[in-house]
Amino acid sequence: MRNETLRFLVLVLFLFLCPTLSWKKEEFRTCEQTPFCKRGRSRAPGSSSVIATDVAISNGELTAKLTPKDDPQSKPLILRLSVYQDSILRLTIDEDPSLSPPKTRFQPPDVLLPDFPSTKLWLPRLTSEDHGAASSVRLSDAHSAVLRQHPFELFIRHDASSQRVISLNSRGLFDFEPLRHKSDGDDWEERFRSHTDSRPYGPQSISFDVSFHAADFVYGIPERASSLALRPTRGPNVDHSEPYRLFNLDVFEYLHDSPFGLYGSVPFMLAHGKTRGTSGFFWLNAAEMQIDVLAPGWDAEYTDSLIALPSNRIDTFWMSEAGVVDAFFFVGPSPKDVLRQYTAVTGTPAMPQLFSVAYHQCRWNYRDEEDVEHVDSKFDELDIPYDVLWLDIEHTDGKRYFTWDRALFPHPEEMQRKLADKGRKMVTIVDPHIKRDDGFHLHKEASQKGYYVKDASGNDFDGWCWPGSSSYPDTLNPEIREWWAEKFSYKNYVGSTPSLYIWNDMNEPSVFNGPEVSMPRDALHYGGVEHRELHNAYGYYFHMATADGLLKRGEGKDRPFVLSRALFAGSQRHGAVWTGDNTADWDHLRVSVPMILTLGLTGISFSGADVGGFFGNPEPELLVRWYQLGAYYPFFRAHAHHDTKRREPWLFGERNTELIKEAIHVRYALLPYFYTLFREANTSGVPVVRPLWMEFPSDEATFSNDEAFMVGGSLLVQGIYTERAKHASVYLPGKESWYDMRTSTVYKGGVTHKLDITEESIPAFQRAGTIIARKDRFRRSSTQMANDPYTLVIALNSSQAAEGELYIDDGSSFNFLQGAYIHRRFFFSNGKLTSIDLTPASGSNRRYPSDAFIERIILLGHPPGLKNALIEPSNDKVDIELAPLWFLRARAPAVMTIRKPSVRVGEDWTITVS
Ligand code: GLC
Repeated sequence: MRNETLRFLVLVLFLFLCPTLSWKKEEFRTCEQTPFCKRGRSRAPGSSSVIATDVAISNGELTAKLTPKDDPQSKPLILRLSVYQDSILRLTIDEDPSLSPPKTRFQPPDVLLPDFPSTKLWLPRLTSEDHGAASSVRLSDAHSAVLRQHPFELFIRHDASSQRVISLNSRGLFDFEPLRHKSDGDDWEERFRSHTDSRPYGPQSISFDVSFHAADFVYGIPERASSLALRPTRGPNVDHSEPYRLFNLDVFEYLHDSPFGLYGSVPFMLAHGKTRGTSGFFWLNAAEMQIDVLAPGWDAEYTDSLIALPSNRIDTFWMSEAGVVDAFFFVGPSPKDVLRQYTAVTGTPAMPQLFSVAYHQCRWNYRDEEDVEHVDSKFDELDIPYDVLWLDIEHTDGKRYFTWDRALFPHPEEMQRKLADKGRKMVTIVDPHIKRDDGFHLHKEASQKGYYVKDASGNDFDGWCWPGSSSYPDTLNPEIREWWAEKFSYKNYVGSTPSLYIWNDMNEPSVFNGPEVSMPRDALHYGGVEHRELHNAYGYYFHMATADGLLKRGEGKDRPFVLSRALFAGSQRHGAVWTGDNTADWDHLRVSVPMILTLGLTGISFSGADVGGFFGNPEPELLVRWYQLGAYYPFFRAHAHHDTKRREPWLFGERNTELIKEAIHVRYALLPYFYTLFREANTSGVPVVRPLWMEFPSDEATFSNDEAFMVGGSLLVQGIYTERAKHASVYLPGKESWYDMRTSTVYKGGVTHKLDITEESIPAFQRAGTIIARKDRFRRSSTQMANDPYTLVIALNSSQAAEGELYIDDGSSFNFLQGAYIHRRFFFSNGKLTSIDLTPASGSNRRYPSDAFIERIILLGHPPGLKNALIEPSNDKVDIELAPLWFLRARAPAVMTIRKPSVRVGEDWTITVS
C-alpha cells in the first residue's frame, strides 16, 4: 500500500473514532457549563453597585473612576468616553495601569481602522445635569451622551425629544472582575470533558446590560444559523435558554436553527424600530462572549425592578470571559447611517476583483490535472461561464500547504496557465495548521524561529488537524504575519502563478483533539496573551496575513482574493467569507439567507453559502433552486464534501443543466450591477445584499422577513425553500410597483402576492424607479466580457421616472484609488434619459478608458406608442422596437427597446424618446 493511502486510511479511522467530530450537543459547552456565563446570568437586575466619581475632561475625553459603592477602598476602574466624527461614541473601561494589575488586559490590535483615531473630536467641556448627579457631552447637534454617577449609567439622548437611544447599565447588571493574585485555596482550573484549562489568571469576566430604546427588533452578532431578527433568549415564553454565543468553532454538521456560535464572531448588534430608526452597539473584544436578548418581562421575578418601562425597548445582556470594555455606540438614525458609522470604525469591505464576483466551481476535491481539465472543458462545451476552479486539501503533498501532490498535479503552472488563457483563475487552500514534519521546510523554519503559538507550558502547541500532528503560526504578531505573507511570493510558493488565489479554512482555529474542537484557552500568544483573550480574532489575523501575502507577491498592484471561514469584526477589509459546512437540505438553503444578511449588516458584505450544500447529496430540484438563489449571493460558489456524489452542473440531465446554466447566466448578466454594488459597499459600508427593512425602514411588514432580500436598492429576490413549490407568497414593499425580472409583469407594491412558481426561476423583481445595467453576451469568463456592450433596463415608476448607477474599472488593480474608473448616474424623466458623470471633478485626472458602448435600452412601464429615440450630442435617430427582454431566452416577452443607441458608456449623452 502506498504511504499516502495508508496515511489517508489512518486519518479516516481517526475521523471515524474521534468523538469530537460530529454535532452532538454534549461536545460543546452550554452557558451552565461555562462558569463566567453562569455567574453572569445568575445576577439580578440592580445588583451592580458601581458608582462613577472624579468625572472630568482630560485630553479631550471624559474620564471617571468606577468603584463599588459598598467598597470605596477597592481599586477603581478607569472609564473614558470619547467622541468621534459622525456622532460615534466610544467607551473604554479598564483596570488602572498605575495600580499594577497582575497583567495587562488584552485589547485586539489592528482591528480598528488605522485612520479612525484621527477622527476624534476634542471635547471642550462637561455639562452638569440633574443637579450634579450626571454629566453630559455633546455628540452632535442632535445627540448627547449622559453619564449618571450614582449608580453608574451611560446613555445617549436625542436632545430635542429627550428620548434615549441606547443605554448601558440601565438595568444595573454591570460587573467587572479585576485580575487578582492567586491566594492559597483558590481553585481556578476549569474542566470540561477530558480537558483542563489551567486559568492562571483566574476570573476576569466582564458583563453589562445594553438597552435599545424605541426598538422593535435587534439583529447582528453573527455567526449562527438562525433567524435574521434575533429572538429573545430569556424571559417569559422563551423556549430555548442558551444565550447567543460568540466563540469561533468548527461545528461539524451544524443545525439549521440554533443560537449556537459557528466559525466567526462579530460583537456588533443593530436595533431597528419604526418610530426612531436604527442604532448600533459594538464591543471590540475577542474573548468568548455570550449575549442574552431579554424578552419583555424577563425581570418580573425581581420585585425591586418592576418600574414601568417603555414597552418598545429591548434589553440585552453581554458577557465576556476576558478583555476590557472598548465599546462603540452608533445613533444612526437610518440603517445605512449605522453601517457608515460602524465601518468608519472597522473599515469598509475591500473592493474585490471582478472575477471573484463571478461564479466559482469548487469540490473537495478535483482529483488531478486531468479532472481539472475535464471539468473546465465541460463548461466550455455547454457554454456555461465560470471564473474560478478551486483545489481543496488533497492537491497538496500530504496536507503540507504551499506544496503539490506531484503525482496528481505534476504541472501546476501549466494547469493555471491553461485556465488563465480563458480568463480563468485557480484557488488553492492554505490552512493554518502546519504539519509537524522535520522534513517540511515551513515547519522547520517556524519552529526554529519560535513562530508557533505555545501551549500553557511554553512549548510549541501541538494539535491534531488534517495533516495529523500540527502547529499553528502566531499571526497575532506582526513580524510573524510578515513572515507568513512572504510565503506567497512566486519564489516561495513553488508552482503558483499570478492567476492563483487563496482559501483559508480551519482558522477558528480548528483542532480536532482540542477542547470544543479548538485550541486550549490557556495556550499562549505573542506578548503573553492567552488564547482565551484573542480566540475569536485568531482567524482574522491569519486571513489578514494571507491577504497581505497576495498583495506583496504582486508588488501591491493587484487586489488580493482570500476566502476565510473564521471571521471577526473587520474581516471585510481582508476578503470574502463563507458560511462553512452546511447540509444539502431545504432548511439549510433557507437559513443561508438570514446568515448572509446578518454578515452584511455587520460590515461583512462579501459572503456566500456553499451552493448545493456541503454535506449530503442534493436532489436535482434542490440543487437547481440553490443555484437560482446562489446566483444572488455576494459570493457565488458551488462546493461539496468528498463523500458526496459528483454534482457539476451537467450531471442531472439536460433540463437541469439548462436551468443551472440559466441561473449562472443571470449572475453574469447582472455582473455590472453587482460590481457597482461592491463599489458602493467599499465606499459606504452598505452591504451588497440587504434585508428589506434597510431599503424600507418604516415598513414594519419587512422587519422580520428573512426569506426575501434586496440586492442593492433595485432588486428584490425571494428564495423558494420547499420541494415542488407551485405557489409562493411574496411581499413587495413600498408604494411603487415591481417588475418581474423574467417576464416584466408588473406587481403592486405594499401587497403580498400569491405567485405561481415554475421550475425556471425563483421570484425576482426590479423596483419601479430604478435603472440597472446588464451584460447579456455570455462568454467563458467575466474577464472575457470586459469590453462587451451594456444593456440598460429602465423600470419606470408612477411618475414615469427612474435612476440608477454604473461603476466600471479595470476589475483588478488599485488604479481606481487614483480615479481610474467610470461612475455614471443614469436618470430618466420627462421622456429623456441622461447619463451624468459622478466622478469627482477635482483630484486626479486619471480615467479608466473604456470603448464599451450601450447596445440596448429596455423601457419598462412606458405607455405604448413610442417610435424613435433622438440621441444627443450626435443627433442620431434610432428606432424603438419590440424586442425580447432576454434575448438568450426562447420564451422571453417582447418589450420596448431602443436598439443600438451606440452611445459610449463613459460619455455624457441624452436620449429622448417620442
Ligand atoms: C472544511 C471546510 C470545507 C473543506 C474541508 C476540507 O470542512 O469547511 O469547505 O472542503 O474542510 O478542506
